[in-house]
Amino acid sequence: MTESVSLIAAERADVIVRDLRESDLTLADAILRSAFDKFTCVTSLFGDKDYVHTRWLADPGAAFAAEQDGQLAGTNFVTRWGTVGFFGPLSVRPELWDRGVASRLMQATVALFDRWGTAHAGLFTFAHSPKHLGLYQKFGFWPRFLTPVMTKAPIAPRRSPQPIRYTALPPAERARAVDACRELTATAYEGLDLEREIRAVESQGLGEVLLLDDSSGLAGMAVCHLGAGTEAGGQGCYVKFGLARPGPGAGARFETLLDACESLAVDNGADHIELGVNAARHEAYAAVMARGYRAGLVGVSMHRANDEGYSRPGTWLVDDWR
Ligand SMILES: CC(C)(COP(=O)(O)OP(=O)(O)OC[C@H]1O[C@@H](n2cnc3c(N)ncnc32)[C@H](O)[C@@H]1OP(=O)(O)O)[C@@H](O)C(=O)NCCC(=O)NCCS
Repeated sequence: MTESVSLIAAERADVIVRDLRESDLTLADAILRSAFDKFTCVTSLFGDKDYVHTRWLADPGAAFAAEQDGQLAGTNFVTRWGTVGFFGPLSVRPELWDRGVASRLMQATVALFDRWGTAHAGLFTFAHSPKHLGLYQKFGFWPRFLTPVMTKAPIAPRRSPQPIRYTALPPAERARAVDACRELTATAYEGLDLEREIRAVESQGLGEVLLLDDSSGLAGMAVCHLGAGTEAGGQGCYVKFGLARPGPGAGARFETLLDACESLAVDNGADHIELGVNAARHEAYAAVMARGYRAGLVGVSMHRANDEGYSRPGTWLVDDWR
């Protein structure tokens, strides 16, 4: 623990950080919504999207609650994708802002990354907010490239790709598919592993995982949420993670993957498809823009130790770490 972090701990002794419990989730959801609405000045920013229940269920041991005077004051959700970790949404009851509650949650979060041995850790935040940048910088996270979150109306592609739909596979083949995804994601970053996201889609019925094969094996994969009660929201399809195999032909594989995602959106009656891409992945970002996606929210990724991780040119990957 660094000296400055010990100081924060001493000053904020009235705030207790503990694991978030299932019995906290309703209140945690209400606090999250009120905090984000207040900061963005938007009423019902998240609408019928869900982060609290879905993320807690995906990994109940990786969510923190801050308590002050026995009351839930704020929460943070931490996600482990193998050697990669990120956190959020982080939120604090608006009447308790600027009293160190988030800083206490951040101490626990950084300690968890250390326990996990996370090689690449980061977050997505509001690029325009000095408070947010200052808060995370205190804990060793530095702003890097912008991550625009983009949407478009889905259009069924003329030549519709025929991806394998993970949820249609028999159980034995699902295990093999997860292994193949792990091999593919490791090409973007050593040890990057989306198994938790795939299992969350499967166990919670959040949407679909698309798998594109070609003669060399798995050419691309995408984890998609669909509809209300997921991160997509009603009438939405959200590509939470998508990756095409790198190397010659990667651009074409990426286009086929995005075609498959649009097909999925159309098949499920979605009126918009949403995804985020870090602008450091220049080719992927340019390709998404060329397909007619337009940015709504523009955030910034902050990386621990200012490490580039897998956000670099030549990585045909979409995700946004919200
Ligand atoms: C962002 C949020 C979680 C912060 O919670 P909080 O409990 O108010 O944060 P803390 O009091 O622990 O820390 C804020 C830090 O930002 C720093 N800060 C504030 N304004 C700053 C500025 N202009 N420049 C640099 N640092 C600044 C403060 O100095 C403080 O650090 P310190 O206590 O060491 O001085 C809370 O405001 C919130 O819930 N917002 C709405 C939801 C949201 O935006 N979540 C985060 C999305 S990534």
